[in-house]
Amino acid sequence: MNTRRERVAWFCGGETLCEPIVHSAKAYRLVLLGPPGVGKGTQAELLCESLGTCHLSTGDIFRAAQCERKPSPALKQALAAMRRGELVSDDVVVAIVRERAGCLRCRGGFLLDGFPRTCAQAEALDILLAEQGVTLDAVLCYELPLEEIISRLGGRRTCQDCKAVYHTMTRPPQNKGVCDHCGGKLMQRDDDLHDSIRTRMRAYAERTRPLTDYYARSGHLVTVSASGTPQEILTRSLCSLKERLPKASTNSKSA
Ligand code: AP5
Repeated sequence: MNTRRERVAWFCGGETLCEPIVHSAKAYRLVLLGPPGVGKGTQAELLCESLGTCHLSTGDIFRAAQCERKPSPALKQALAAMRRGELVSDDVVVAIVRERAGCLRCRGGFLLDGFPRTCAQAEALDILLAEQGVTLDAVLCYELPLEEIISRLGGRRTCQDCKAVYHTMTRPPQNKGVCDHCGGKLMQRDDDLHDSIRTRMRAYAERTRPLTDYYARSGHLVTVSASGTPQEILTRSLCSLKERLPKASTNSKSA
């Protein structure tokens, strides 16, 4: 079964919701946390296949907007910040997610990747969830030593069309430079260059890391080691979820 989603509502905003491919007994509502390059996007793809959730990535929205012919002034500022490796301002990010808040009601559940990234964004998410009448199940926080993260970022290649993620050594495509899923061209991201990586790591330590305390206090935090193969990390993530939500069936193909 093809479980890759077009995520039209997430990319375009507005009220039109996608038709979810529901194949799990429970609609999971999850947040992924962790430093840049730890493997959140990779796990998001695998978790979505296992749980039937929809992958909602704020980074993907910004990267898709790079192709717009006339980006708004706010979006231009956001794209410049992103290229430098800095965080986009809370006001802009929260406004963008608010325009897409209907995705939080998706019947298949959701997996937020890259949002929230600051305590102000986490508070805004709490309000959006309450407005949409849904609650969060868990926040999966991935951890990995810095040198492994740097090596993952250096070899990353991303499909310019469907955004699938590869690695030159650990997850190469079947044909060099070409996406296995859609045949699109694989590119290196602007913010995977050395200076931007340093800035992103600093932004994570100063502004995103405190979110682990925020979600530990609310009882949502589940810490997962991101060492090993993507499949091993997926199995670890699903086991952690089962422990946390024992009554829910993850309906997993891999755990
Ligand atoms: P975003 O797109 O969210 O990027 P990020 O958080 O920096 O995370 P990455 O996408 O870099 O890494 P990842 O953890 O998803 O790793 P991946 O799976 O690709 O945000 C980009 C920018 O947008 C931000 O810097 C900011 O400017 C802006 N932005 C977005 N949201 C924002 C917000 N809410 N507020 C403010 N600003 C915001 O894996 C990395 C590589 O490792 C890949 O090549 C992969 O194949 C490989 N890999 C993965 N798993 C494994 C494994 N187990 N073993 C070996 N290799 C692996």
